[in-house]
Amino acid sequence: MLHDQAEFEGIIQKHPQEKRSLIPILQDFQATYNYLPPVALNMVSQALAVPLIDIISVASFYNAFSMEPKGEHQITVCVGTACHVRGAPKILGEFERNLNLEVGHTREDGKYSLDSVACLGCCAIGPVVVADGEYYAQTSIRNAGKIVRKLEKKEKIND
Ligand code: FES
Repeated sequence: MLHDQAEFEGIIQKHPQEKRSLIPILQDFQATYNYLPPVALNMVSQALAVPLIDIISVASFYNAFSMEPKGEHQITVCVGTACHVRGAPKILGEFERNLNLEVGHTREDGKYSLDSVACLGCCAIGPVVVADGEYYAQTSIRNAGKIVRKLEKKEKIND
């Protein structure tokens, strides 16, 4: 995916050119492009005088940042202990089948990304799935199909 470097520059310039701006700048890139474009990271490194390797380690440390382009629709299935014992692995498998996509990846058409997470901090309502920022509590295999169809409908409306 190609982006205009002037656009990247615009995002960087919105923040004070200091080391403490690193996370807010990365958050802006993530929110704008759904991932951190490599060229943008190089530009951030130069603007803030922070070595690229340090930026990459910050970006890899936080789950909120992605180094790979994400799909238009993002689904995250919690597979932490509480959700796991209530069937999360089967639910995750159902999403993989419905989306024809392996967990941890983005579909080639760029429409969907499927991820798992260790705990979303709301174990009492597990198994929990987050789709496009919306939380689904006490999900089941059947719900997985419904969630995918709901996203597909959104897709048709947007086409
Ligand atoms: S284990 Fe799933 S929300 Fe905590």
